[in-house]
Amino acid sequence: MPNVDSVKVAVRVRPFSQREKDAGSKCVISMDSNSTSIYDPRNPGHVKTFAFDLAYWSHSGFRKDENGMLIPAGSNSYAGQREVFHDLGQGVLQSAWQGYNATLLAYGQTGSGKSYSMIGYGANRGLVPSVCEELFKAVQSQEKKQQYQITFSMLEIYNEQVIDLLSKTRKPGGLKIREDQQQGFYVDGLKLVPCDSYAQIERLMHQGNKMRTTATTTMNSSSSRSHMVITIQFKQIFLDEALTKQSVINLVDLAGSERQKSSRSEKDRLKEGTRVNLSLTTLGNVISALAEVATGKKVLHIPYRDSVLTKLLQSALGGNSRTIMIAALSPADICYEETLSTLRYAERAKKIRNKAVVNASPTEKLITELKAENNKLSSRMAGLGSAGRSISNEARSSKSQAEVWEEGRTHTELQLLAESEGRIRSAQVTWEARLEEARHEWEQQFSAMTQASVPAVGIVVPDALSSSLLTVISSSRMHPTKIMYFSILAQERWMMETFPYLLNINEDPQLSWVLKHFIQDGTCDVGQSTSNAIILRGLGILDKHATFTNADGRVTLVPQDKCKVVVNGVTITGETELQHLDRVILGSNSAYLYVGPPAERTEEDLSRYDYDFFQSELAAAEGFSVDKLGSVGSGQDRADPSVLAVFHDYIKLMPLVEEANQMSQELRKDLKFELKVKNLALSDSRGNDLQKEITVKVTHGITQQVWVWSKAKFVNRKFLMEELYQRFLEGEDPDVNRDSDPFWDPVEAVHVGCAHVWLQALAYRMRLEERAELLNSEGLEEAVMLINLSPCSSDGRLFGENDMVIDPLELLERRVDFQIHIAECLGVKWLRGAVGRGVQIGYRVYDLPRCLYTKPVWESVNSKIEETVHFSALNASYEFLNYLQKNALIVDLWGLQEGCMEMDSSLDGLLLTAEGTVVVDNPKALTASNAGLDAAIEVPELYRKLLQMEQETELLREVNRALREENALLKDKLKKWDTGHHEKKKPESLTKAVKVMKQSVSSRDAEETSSQRTSSDAQLAKALKTFYQNMSVVRQQFLQLKHSRPPVSPVFATV
Ligand SMILES: Nc1ncnc2c1ncn2[C@@H]1O[C@H](COP(=O)(O)OP(=O)(O)O)[C@@H](O)[C@H]1O
Ligand SMILES: [Mg+2]
Repeated sequence: MPNVDSVKVAVRVRPFSQREKDAGSKCVISMDSNSTSIYDPRNPGHVKTFAFDLAYWSHSGFRKDENGMLIPAGSNSYAGQREVFHDLGQGVLQSAWQGYNATLLAYGQTGSGKSYSMIGYGANRGLVPSVCEELFKAVQSQEKKQQYQITFSMLEIYNEQVIDLLSKTRKPGGLKIREDQQQGFYVDGLKLVPCDSYAQIERLMHQGNKMRTTATTTMNSSSSRSHMVITIQFKQIFLDEALTKQSVINLVDLAGSERQKSSRSEKDRLKEGTRVNLSLTTLGNVISALAEVATGKKVLHIPYRDSVLTKLLQSALGGNSRTIMIAALSPADICYEETLSTLRYAERAKKIRNKAVVNASPTEKLITELKAENNKLSSRMAGLGSAGRSISNEARSSKSQAEVWEEGRTHTELQLLAESEGRIRSAQVTWEARLEEARHEWEQQFSAMTQASVPAVGIVVPDALSSSLLTVISSSRMHPTKIMYFSILAQERWMMETFPYLLNINEDPQLSWVLKHFIQDGTCDVGQSTSNAIILRGLGILDKHATFTNADGRVTLVPQDKCKVVVNGVTITGETELQHLDRVILGSNSAYLYVGPPAERTEEDLSRYDYDFFQSELAAAEGFSVDKLGSVGSGQDRADPSVLAVFHDYIKLMPLVEEANQMSQELRKDLKFELKVKNLALSDSRGNDLQKEITVKVTHGITQQVWVWSKAKFVNRKFLMEELYQRFLEGEDPDVNRDSDPFWDPVEAVHVGCAHVWLQALAYRMRLEERAELLNSEGLEEAVMLINLSPCSSDGRLFGENDMVIDPLELLERRVDFQIHIAECLGVKWLRGAVGRGVQIGYRVYDLPRCLYTKPVWESVNSKIEETVHFSALNASYEFLNYLQKNALIVDLWGLQEGCMEMDSSLDGLLLTAEGTVVVDNPKALTASNAGLDAAIEVPELYRKLLQMEQETELLREVNRALREENALLKDKLKKWDTGHHEKKKPESLTKAVKVMKQSVSSRDAEETSSQRTSSDAQLAKALKTFYQNMSVVRQQFLQLKHSRPPVSPVFATV
């Protein structure tokens, strides 16, 4: 009977990470029974609430018990691994016993806790091990009338390739997905290992994890972009009832969900590394489509076939499976957007309806299958002999299925087997044969493993160990396979207690500490070649890369010529003695923690030395740190969160840049990649955006051509580079068509500098002649530009001092004309960098639809430009006058290089007056883009000062208004006086105005303004002019103070 049930959705929020704690993060999630709320950190009143089947609060209220398990501290709502297993794991087991297929998916951004819930860490075992262990426990306690068959498989989907994590050999291009009428999609040739104990599964998982770790370094992939699928097939054979039940349990640790958005928003000439994202994107589409189906909408097509993952999960989504999704949430405010999107995703998944059925079939069918399989296996076992070939299990391939049916036809045979005795024998024999085959293979692997760990130097397992092992073996009734497994573990433990070793550190904590390389007595070479004592594969690691020497209790490391070895953040060139817990990076990015000889070891917790630690240390050695970046709003103990975010972006990208450089070198692409920190304040017209952003500067080694890539573009290109590199390793030519070459881009003009020219003078119809510094993105001077802003009449006659206005509002609804004259650009550093370079200057005024550019000037460090553009606001609006008063003109300096397109220096596309002047403040053009006039801003101290000055300006304006009234009054009175009325007393209002004036400008240069001059507009205007000019200087200084942190390292080198 089909059973309609919705996908069950659980959410779980993890504790803060160390990084989040350091950043003073706030928790934006709250949970109340099954409702989960998320607060918008920028708008705390804004709360969104979701209802899921289960909500796990694992954020706080826990303590570590003596085994390292996190358990509730006191009686509170903390949900540990046990609680999660209790609901979700038990649910899966129940389904399996009933004969339903079951699927468990973990979804969430990288670092949100997917693997913690699925696999677990140390004592905090996750769902997969617990489910497997409980399954075996239950099986072992059952009566013998039933027979149970459990197989285990483990695969990874990376870039639409399926990698068998249990197979020693990797097929180039991965395994193929095939479709079968009966069983749907399956992976052809995937190893399904028959298992008879939990220990065996533990071992397989360990092996798979090792495989995954090695694959990430050899393929330069990142586990955060791959999906891991563990499949357990559980078959129950009820011999009495002539019935079998079968359940397929899929346990899926999905790739980090965060990438989808970031790469979609990026425009790049090359399509995004789509294949990397394809599976997750398609999963999203399938879920959306199914959610629509559930709400009664007509959906024509559900795109299961679009990706590998959705093919394999077809039955889990909308099909024959009971499915649970666990959505992992990060609690931190900085992850708000991602977490919200995870919650929305989960909400959609909740709507999906599945139709799970019990997979039961009469044993008759099973017998047919068994017979065929049995025949096949016995012939294979016979053929295997002692040669010990490894055989991959093909029991699921469609071919064998077909054979099964063919061979099972004979009536007499069926009759024969139908007898109970025969059934039991047949089932057992077949299963035993399969187990035997798996055992055989394991033995081979075991001997290979022992050979690998007993190196050329030859170690002798001490008597104490071998005798203790012997005791274990002889006293136990363990199966030989198990004994072997335990002896490997014991041997590894013994090695760890005897020799110093390297412990791998991966970006993904789940893959850290998986590989151990022992440094035994004597010398020990490291490198890619199999002749080395320690074989290490990875980008930038050479055949023979370095040599360790372990003698007299000292361990030293010597890099081979030109081989990159970094110890504690510093590149070493000669022999270096290692200390316990030194950080060693070999090649581009293979990171290891050095664990010294036992005598040197301390009690210190090794978990401190995670991937972040390595990268921060590297960054610090290069002179890059949070302090150097500067925490704006000084006086705070903690760095500004946006600064921290940039810092973490930086250290995240650092290893990627290193790898890109290595690939560029090996593929002979001649490109050099460097990280740069760009100050966004430079492109804000009010100079008040304090954020910083990472960009990647790309330089061609020969032509010196330069490109600047955004972070998202770089990340996308890096995927594509990896793909190209992988194909190169597989023997393909890396010189691909340049249209599809991730290392190639057309030459473009590069943004090299920018200046702020405050427009306030124009609001008063005053001329401004400015020597503006063009600063590069790091706040350093790139060039100096001479620019004039000149108010003028409609026919271009420049205004003089007498045309000045006291109050910009006098210009309201009048025609306002001005000219921007760019005279020259001096000392352009860009032009010194290489020959064949030029510059162009661009700027955009108020509401113009596009930037205006000066004509290019080539190869002249001091570039004469001498270009003037006349602008007209035909009916000046309040907003425009406000813009002039509060904003700066952002003037960009563009670097031209050989072969690049010049920027269009015509006035095409702009609205012109009959006289040919450019129309600004066009009411039709002004839409939402009101030049950021009302943007709500955070006000740092300096900015507050600036605002204060602006307020003073306001006050001056008030004074001016009062004075003018007085002026009129005085004139009036004078007239009356002239006609014979003698008035001696000063009017009261005047004294008041002077008082206001004196108060407001007393600290400024305008003090000279005295009450005697109050009646003269021109005099006051002069004073105001001095004041505005001073203010302009202060503003400029303010901006520079804010942007230019002095260069301290190569990171800040100029473009
Ligand atoms: N519920 C939890 N309790 C304690 N620590 C957790 C929890 N969930 C995640 N973590 C920790 O957070 C880090 C990232 O978790 P992980 O599961 O590896 O993330 P993902 O697989 O989603 O990338 C790990 O160091 C892990 O130990
Ligand atoms: Mg993970």
